[in-house]
Amino acid sequence: MTSVPPRLPPAIELRRVAKSFGTVQVCRDVDLAIETGEFVTLLGPSGCGKTTTLNMVAGLEDSTSGDILLAGRRVNELSPVERDVAMVFQNYALYPHMTVAENIGFTLRMRGMKRAEIATRVTAIAASLELSHVLERLPAQLSGGQQQRVAIGRALVREPRIFLFDEPFSNLDAALRVKMRAEVKQLHQRLGVTSLFVTHDQEEAMSISDRIAVMNRGRVEQFGTPEEIYARPATRYVASFIGNPQIELMPGTVEAADGRPAVRLGAQVLPLPGDGRFRPGQKVEIGIRPEHVRLGAGDLSASVRLVQPVGPLSHVVLDWDGGSLTATLPGFSRLQPGERVSAAISPDDMLVFDQETGLRL
Ligand SMILES: Nc1ncnc2c1ncn2[C@@H]1O[C@H](COP(=O)(O)OP(=O)(O)OP(=O)(O)O)[C@@H](O)[C@H]1O
Ligand SMILES: [Mg+2]
Repeated sequence: MTSVPPRLPPAIELRRVAKSFGTVQVCRDVDLAIETGEFVTLLGPSGCGKTTTLNMVAGLEDSTSGDILLAGRRVNELSPVERDVAMVFQNYALYPHMTVAENIGFTLRMRGMKRAEIATRVTAIAASLELSHVLERLPAQLSGGQQQRVAIGRALVREPRIFLFDEPFSNLDAALRVKMRAEVKQLHQRLGVTSLFVTHDQEEAMSISDRIAVMNRGRVEQFGTPEEIYARPATRYVASFIGNPQIELMPGTVEAADGRPAVRLGAQVLPLPGDGRFRPGQKVEIGIRPEHVRLGAGDLSASVRLVQPVGPLSHVVLDWDGGSLTATLPGFSRLQPGERVSAAISPDDMLVFDQETGLRL
């Protein structure tokens, strides 16, 4: 007889979770299933409900309706401690009069764990976070990044089933943020603790996550891998939230040119993929990512407005009679403002959205 191994329930599952504060609904219809060991990010602008969602998973906030399950067990009524989750917040206040070792071991002491075992655990965590050489220092004697790692160590030392992060790097400078991103990702690769991470920074989300839930006004608009949400955004909103420089969106109307679908943008007509997705007269919005604009050939005539070198790439903003367009070119561009260029966009690279619903066609 062959036996199929039983499928584990998701480590974290939200089923039609909603939250209202008084009459204001801030989360609605949130459905998410996060597998054991996954690193998932809630991404969205300020006020979209990321922290509220995370707090409902942690048990710091009640949901108004819906179910929250951890490892298949409904936990709506359980306290944060009973849920066995650890959180790292944006404002990770360390105890200023305690050493790094004491800060990391604090929750274990509170639980009455034996000194020797606390020391073993703290030593191991400190080594994995490269804090071994600062264990006897006070928080004031640490850099911002080291303080952040102490806060992570304090949460990790409990060996939680689940790790929740709420914008943990937002108080750090840009360079340190990028460094901490890599450290948290490596830590996750090593320890494999299921993690739910909140940020409003799309690049941070893209670089760190197995999957991203893009939130908009209390709802999850798309839940997918970084590649899926970048290359195949479900909606115009997701397309415009992800990517730097932003995708260029232009309203247009589908028409037939020589029996093939095309889109009119201002005075220009650009061919669309001929796969039957479009019908003449349809009001659409065309999305073009900067790396898909090829300069030096093609039917689009444009003039250079602005050249912004960013090291390995240059972002070139173009004006044409359909609007503006940004192209990303390798290296330092020699183009000058006012220069005329021709540009080409492959129909297969265009993202086409329904103007009314915002859904990708
Ligand atoms: N206790 C509360 N009472 C009333 N409204 C609240 C409360 N907490 C949050 N809100 C509102 O709920 C909405 C979602 O807030 P939330 O903190 O979840 O957003 P967020 O996505 O984490 O934003 P940010 O990126 O700014 O942290 C906001 O409009 C906020 O004003
Ligand atoms: Mg928040």
